[in-house]
This record gives sequence, C-alpha cells and structure tokens, in this order.
Amino acid sequence: MTEMNPVTAYTDGDVDTNDTTQRSLESMAAERYSRRNAMFRGAGATTMAFMGTSLLAACGDDGEGGSIGGAVSVSAGSSVATSAGRVVTLTGTVSGNGQDAGWNQRTGPEVALMGSGATVTFIAPAVAAATDLVFQFSAKPLIGEAVTATTTVRVSPAVLGFTAVAHSLSDVAMVPEGYSVTIMTRLGDPIAAGVSAYANDGSDADFDKRIGDHHDALHYFGLSASGTPDRNSSTRGLMVQNHENITETYLHPAGPSAAPRPLAEALKEIECHGVSVVEYVDGGNRKWTYKQDSTFNRRITPNTPMSFHGPAAGSAFLVTAYSKDGTAGRGTINNCANGVTGWKTNLTCEENYAGYFRRDAADDAKRTPAELASLRRNGITSRSGNYSWSTASSTDTRFTRWNATITGAAATDDFRYEPNQYGWVVEIDPYNPTSTPRKRTALGRFGHEGAFVRIAAGQKLGAYMGDDSRGEYLYKFVSNETWAAADADATDRLAVGDKYLDAGTLYVARFNADGTGTWLPLVYSPTFPKRPASGTYPEYTFTSQADICVNTRFAADAVGATPMDRPEWTVGNPVTGEIYLTLTNSNNSFRPVTGTNAANPRSYNDPKGPSNSAQTGNPNGHIVRLREDGDTTSATTFKWDIYLFGADSTDADPTNVNISGLTTANDFSSPDGAYFSRSTNPSGQINPLMWIETDDGALTDRTNCMLLAAIPGHVGDGGAYTVNNAGNTQNTFVGAKATAANLRRFLVGPVECEITGIDQTPDGRTLFVGIQHPGEGGSYSAPTSHWPYSQDGSTPAASVRPRSALIAITKNDGGVIGL
Ligand code: FEO
Ligand code: CA
Ligand code: CA
Ligand code: CA
Repeated sequence: MTEMNPVTAYTDGDVDTNDTTQRSLESMAAERYSRRNAMFRGAGATTMAFMGTSLLAACGDDGEGGSIGGAVSVSAGSSVATSAGRVVTLTGTVSGNGQDAGWNQRTGPEVALMGSGATVTFIAPAVAAATDLVFQFSAKPLIGEAVTATTTVRVSPAVLGFTAVAHSLSDVAMVPEGYSVTIMTRLGDPIAAGVSAYANDGSDADFDKRIGDHHDALHYFGLSASGTPDRNSSTRGLMVQNHENITETYLHPAGPSAAPRPLAEALKEIECHGVSVVEYVDGGNRKWTYKQDSTFNRRITPNTPMSFHGPAAGSAFLVTAYSKDGTAGRGTINNCANGVTGWKTNLTCEENYAGYFRRDAADDAKRTPAELASLRRNGITSRSGNYSWSTASSTDTRFTRWNATITGAAATDDFRYEPNQYGWVVEIDPYNPTSTPRKRTALGRFGHEGAFVRIAAGQKLGAYMGDDSRGEYLYKFVSNETWAAADADATDRLAVGDKYLDAGTLYVARFNADGTGTWLPLVYSPTFPKRPASGTYPEYTFTSQADICVNTRFAADAVGATPMDRPEWTVGNPVTGEIYLTLTNSNNSFRPVTGTNAANPRSYNDPKGPSNSAQTGNPNGHIVRLREDGDTTSATTFKWDIYLFGADSTDADPTNVNISGLTTANDFSSPDGAYFSRSTNPSGQINPLMWIETDDGALTDRTNCMLLAAIPGHVGDGGAYTVNNAGNTQNTFVGAKATAANLRRFLVGPVECEITGIDQTPDGRTLFVGIQHPGEGGSYSAPTSHWPYSQDGSTPAASVRPRSALIAITKNDGGVIGL
C-alpha cells in the first residue's frame, strides 16, 4: 500500500556522503523535516480493528517535490489508539530514492512485527493500563545514513470487541460480523489413507478410521514443521477430540435394528464413541484443513487397549474375563470434557458410562449388599444397556462385556465388574499414536465431566473435577509430587503422568454457608467414616483406598460433601488461579424448593414456550467459583461465590432469578463447557477471556445453544445476597452483575445442538469449537437439522442428515478472537 516515489533526478545537490556519522537518527530526521515542508499527510499507523476499516497510509505528496534525487524523507504517520489483541498496521511512506525501508520498535511491551518493508502488522499486546508503544520507520538514501520517523500506538486493556450475536433458532452456527466459520472434522470424515469419503446415508462403516459422533471436549496440541511437539505452533497441530455419544438414527440406512442387534450395527455404534486425534494444518492465513493420511491420526474407541494405574489398579474391583489381574482395560466411553497436563498429554473423562451396561433382574440376588449398593449408587441399573450392544453376540466379548450380570463362577469368567472399568480419567499421549492410554484411578471414579489441571511453580499439581449428575460433587486431586519444570518437555510423557497422577490426595468440596469452603480428604484408614444407610442403600464400609477410588461417590457422601446442581466443566483463570465450576441445572423433583443450599440457592419456575410450560428448580443453572486460600493447589480451604446465574431475561424475576442482570444480549441457560483463553496470547493475559458453552433445553424456546465470551472479575467482587424462593429464603454470595462490557454472546449453534469443546491456537487467532448432535430430535427419515450443510445459508434437501462437527472460527482481519 505504501508508495515509494520513483527516482527522478538530483535537483538540490544535497548529497550526503558520510554514512558513518554519529548524529542520532532522530536528529537527522528532524533536520530533514525542518528543511522541507510537510510532505505527507494521512494516518500511517492504523489499527484495522479499531477503525473498523483499513486506513493505510496515503501517499500525501503535497507537490513540494517528494522525489528530489538523493533526498529521502519518511513519514510514520499519526499516532493511533487501539486495545489489546487487535491488529495494528504500520505503514510508512518514503519520499525520494529510499531503500531498506523498515520498522522497528523503540519502546513499550515488545511485539512481533509481521511482514517487512514499509508495511508491517502486529497484534496489540495485553496491558493493564493504557500503554504507549513507539515504533520507528526508517529508510536509507542511496548514499548516506538512514532517516527515521516515529509513531505512537496507544494500547488500552482488552475489551470484548464484537457485537453480541442475537438469539437464533436458525440451522446455522452464527458468529459476530467480521468473523468466519470453517467446517473442520465432521462425523464420519475419513482419517486414514484410502478410506472413502463419508456417504452420510447410513452405509458407512470403518469408524475406527473415521471421526466419531457427538463432538465434545477438544484440545489443539501444536506440532513443529518437522513434526515434533511444539506448544507454540499456531499453524500445525493435533486436534484431540472426545466423541461422547451417538445419534443412533442417523448412523444406519433406516435407523437402528431392534435387539438382538446386528453385530455390524453395534460395532459401528461402539466405534463412533471414544476419542479422535487428527492433524490440522493452516494452509496460510488460518485456512485450516485436516490431513487425512497423517501418521499421527488415531481413533481411540471403546475397544482400544488401556492400562490401569494408581490405587485401584490390580485390585479385585477391576478383574474381568478380559483383565484377569485387574490391570488391563479395554477402551473408553462417554468421553465428555477433558483436561490438559503440563507435559503435553490429554485427559479424557468418562462421564455417563453407567447407562451402557445391562444387568438382568436375577443379578441382584447374586450380589453382595456392598456390590449392589455400589451398582445402584453409580447408576448401573439398566436391563438392556444403551443401544442393547450386549445382544449383538453371545461369544464376542466386545459385545458380551456390556452385560454386567453375573453369569460365571468367578469374576475372571464374566464381566460382572466391567462397569468398574469405566468412570475414570484417562491419560492419552497424542503425539505417540501407538501408546497405550492410562486410566488414572487415583482421581476417583464417578461421572467424570472434566479434569482441569492447575500447575504452578513450586506447587503440587491440582486437578479439579466435576461429577455430572444432580446432587453430585466437586472433587480435587492433589499430587504428592511438587511440579518440576523440566517435566514439561520430557519425552516419556505417560511416565510423567505416573509421577503426578498416580499418587496424591483426592478431596471433595464442602461449600459452607458463610462463603468459605473445605476440601475433605478421601483417604482410607480404618477410621474412615462409613457411608450411612439411606433409602435403598445399606451402610457401606470402606476396605481400602482402592475401594474409595472405585466407590468415590459413597466416600464423598460419607464425609459430608455439598451436593451441587450437576457439576459440569471446571476451569481455572490462568492469571488469578481461581477455579470456575459450571452447574448446569437441577429440577424440583430432585431438589425441592426447601432443598437449596448456599452454593445452589435458587428454586423457581422458568416458563417455556407459548404454553408457558413449567420448568421448576434451577432449570437455567449457574457458575460457582472459588479461590484457594493462599492461592495454592494444596490448600484445604477456600472462598467461593456465584459468578453468574443463568436466566431467561425476558420472563425471569429480576430479583430472585435473573440475579446477574442478564439481557437478551447475554442471557444463557445451562452452562456446561467452560474455558479460559490461553495465556500465550493477549486474550489470556491480565484480564483473561472466559468462554462459556451451553447444553440447554430450557431457553431453547428462544434460542439454540450458544457460546459466550466474558471478562470475569474475581471471587468477592459482589457480595452477600438473599434469594427468596417462593417464601423460602436462602442466603448466598454472588459476584458482580453481568454487563454488556463483561459478558456477550459470541456464537449461537444450529438446531438441536449442544456447544461443547473449545480451544484456541496459541496465538489466539483461531478458535476451535465443537458442535454436538445437531438435529438430535429428528430421525433418518425426517432430520430436524441439516447442519453443517446448511451453514452457508442454503436449504439442503429434506433427507440430508446432520453431522456433529468441529468448527474453526477466525477473525477476518486476523485479530485475536473475541477482542
Ligand atoms: Fe457430557 Fe455433563 O456433559
Ligand atoms: Ca422462559
Ligand atoms: Ca458436558
Ligand atoms: Ca451437559
């Protein structure tokens, strides 16, 4: 864009010959300016995002004679203002026969200048207060020293820099103006050489070489150009994504066959679960594609061999006909949220595994009271198991193992303990496609949503974990070992996992009514409390740490943990270390109006739809956060408050329901996924952006599920609050209200989807998001969504089946997403 004036001829005899002068470049430039009239006008330094358009330097030759032979002058343009994360373009202008034009930074937080010559760009850095960055533009005459000019860019702290996306019921993933969506890996896409494109008519097989269904948590692991682990790479990486479940109807030509299930149908459904590892490549300027034949690509399915580690490994609880010593495992299932370690491995979390198992009525009489109690407490009560997989064969253990009924003489003869093989956090080394994933039993067994790992110098590792069922708990695992920075780049990554994830203390949270909290250790001793009898449960007595790890819910009951409104994702603010926990919802049939507690304080009705059908309890959910005392992962006490309450801002009581003051620009319901921007870019620094994803059925009369961006404050930025639940009062602690400046809707998904899974490239300029189960309420003969085929605004044929897919979101001007 910059125009360099062409050489004409010498006219004034001003030939500089001393190119070793000690005069400062600034004084040289000043002299030249003083000798000549202002030669250029217009802004030379512009911020594209701030100005909303590109105002690149105009060559403002005023006719004074800008191409005087040999004389060179430069202009760096006027000063501008912008905010963190935005693209700034510096354009210098040169008059005369200038050469080697270029920019360098003189003051301010160092930024990386992209490009060369007279026009360069950079991303405005994170700042705590308005900060000036001074840049110098220089060019050399044919003979003589360089001449320079400077410009100042004033950078303000990060703000949400997009227009809120409105409620939407359309079959499109809606993003703010100025952003683009690229559809990446979809259900069925081939991820090995020679595998055919997905027909999407129910005929496809080979899902151990295709992308699975129900995209959930995801993480981008960077790769260098040479294919080695590189946590700073924003142009090539391995996408690790969970495939939580299936929409069965769309996987077969005419929906699923009745039980007994055809083996091929059951195998397809099983292999659609698990985890995928796929290489993603930026083809230039964030034009992302995936590499079908990458040697890194991998499917981990419910049939992939695993090994057990930690206190329960090798215990009688894990013995099956497949794992006669209780150390081997086979596969992972219902992989929901995730965790990422500091040594470049992925944690996939087994959530609602219980429903896949069948247990026949006659089994109850064959169980000990303790076993029966454990099976019930963990929800292993189905008589068919999800999708009736156990009916697909009477001999092939890939199918018979989904029947947990006692059929043999000993545990090594059947799969009575197969349910104990699930409900764990599983560590995967994404960079080694032949590695055997490891189930980390020290982190407990329950409906594991996610496992946010907090690593801080000089501290033990902390892993924060929700158990997603109504009335379940928040857990924390603290390693015995203190973090050693050298482990971050160890090559035997799973061995590092052994060090930090196999030995430590598991805690469960009690949220006290006074805004404090206590971490209650779940450590076996002969005096560890018994789980008292209640309802259909007899008293449960623990026998070992392995017992506590397998029957973690009972152990948490026994010590008096606080029941929560379905704990979903956990995530930590990378700057403050505060931990956020989404609580997706509860209902009155589970938790009556008198069943609130300080951390789960609301009970109300959110009327839905034209008929105002009742949704009672806490149908919209909330987000609690905590700050460890002393800011250490190993603290045993903390402070908490409720960061945000979900609500339907249109019809909610503003005092007792819409406590956070949501509006139609930021109202949401049933928070699930939660994520903080990476600390490697301006959106994750100083006041980091938090991202909130919803898995909702309550506000869906007004809008599909969504992703919001927030700039949260901190624990204690609000105060004490009393909620009046239809005459029953509940005291609690709430955070500062939401505002248009600190909470804004960024994305609304297509029909009947859930937004789940989120990560960004280290530079923050691509955001990856999972779109799970669009059209989940439809059928193969009448799909209710056609996404992603509808993403371009077209209307696909009525028969086109929807597909879960991962999307890449980029900002058209190349800036950091959200800022
Ligand atoms: Fe799989 Fe709790 O969401
Ligand atoms: Ca409503
Ligand atoms: Ca979830
Ligand atoms: Ca959910």
